[in-house]
Amino acid sequence: MKPSTSRQALGAPVLSVRDLSVSFRSDTRTVHAVDSLSYDVAPGEVLAIVGESGCGKSVTSMAVMGLLPSTATVTGSVRLGDRELAGAAEKELAKVRGKDLAMIFQEPMTSLNPVLTVGRQIGEVLRRHQGLSRAEAKERSVELLGLVGIPAPERRVAEYPHQLSGGMRQRVMIAIAVACDPAVLIADEPTTALDVTVQAGILEVLQSLRERLGTAIVLITHDLGVVADAADRVLVMYAGRAIEQAPVDELFAAPRHPYTRGLLGAVLRPGQEGKRRLPEIPGLVPSLTAQPDACTFADRCAHADERCGTARPPLTPDSGHRVACWHPVAVTHEEAAR
Ligand SMILES: Nc1ncnc2c1ncn2[C@@H]1O[C@H](COP(=O)(O)OP(=O)(O)O)[C@@H](O)[C@H]1O
Ligand code: SF4
Ligand SMILES: [Mg+2]
Repeated sequence: MKPSTSRQALGAPVLSVRDLSVSFRSDTRTVHAVDSLSYDVAPGEVLAIVGESGCGKSVTSMAVMGLLPSTATVTGSVRLGDRELAGAAEKELAKVRGKDLAMIFQEPMTSLNPVLTVGRQIGEVLRRHQGLSRAEAKERSVELLGLVGIPAPERRVAEYPHQLSGGMRQRVMIAIAVACDPAVLIADEPTTALDVTVQAGILEVLQSLRERLGTAIVLITHDLGVVADAADRVLVMYAGRAIEQAPVDELFAAPRHPYTRGLLGAVLRPGQEGKRRLPEIPGLVPSLTAQPDACTFADRCAHADERCGTARPPLTPDSGHRVACWHPVAVTHEEAAR
């Protein structure tokens, strides 16, 4: 799945997230899971969000969807078209969710209802948001199963989740998510639980949705191979913050943040070509309970100096390629020539 669109060719953002912060308070401590995160996605664009486990990818998405538990404190802005979703009443959000803004998760079995046929589950969304009759909903469910590449959809529509393979269940989840032709689809590690051949099929489905329906896709993954194949732009998260953001080709050709270089360097090193997952970088991700006045990567960074330990680097202004580092790696002649 290789993107055919460039950012310049795309319109105004359909989803704009600004200064999104999420913290969880318990009796004993506060976890700052997401800190001042901002991103835009344009219609038909695929934005990949990448980062180690626990860096705040899922919490970001749940905050955008308005699905976090009441223990979460969310600040910032989430605009879908001209609507502000942050702070909107649950009744308003319920109208938007599943209709204009949809999400698919890593494990489709836990999101599907085991006692209802897949047709009923797709049909429910259509009946709720589009007021279709039962017969219309069934007909449209068959169409949707075909759209997501399920063979013999007329037969499959009457089956239960346990009768389907993991890959087919994920396709059903995508069919439910796109049933109302949402402007934005958030896919949270949609292929992580699937094996490699099945993953490729799911990515093709997402690609065709973006091409045929113009769906904007926020693709959360820790698989750099998926990022390279599927994304237009990439946002790299570290410890709840955006630390680098760039068009995908530029990020892979000339990453500027030491953390991103560590991730990609390990993948691109000779003999490691087959390694697609995020590599181990020495050191520990900092505790999210502490918000020190320092670069969050300082303890693991070979380039850290005194300034890094006393002041937090902001993201550079939006120039296409943004980086949050006091000493971003200079682009080499070799990289510039690529
Ligand atoms: N409901 C919650 N209550 C408290 N902390 C949470 C909750 N959900 C997530 N977190 C914490 O927020 C951080 C980010 O989690 P998450 O977004 O799930 O990471 P990722 O998806 O990048 O692996 C983690 O430290 C996690 O423990
Ligand atoms: S700001 Fe300093 S510690 Fe942080 S990534 Fe850049 S060089 Fe490393
Ligand atoms: Mg997650």
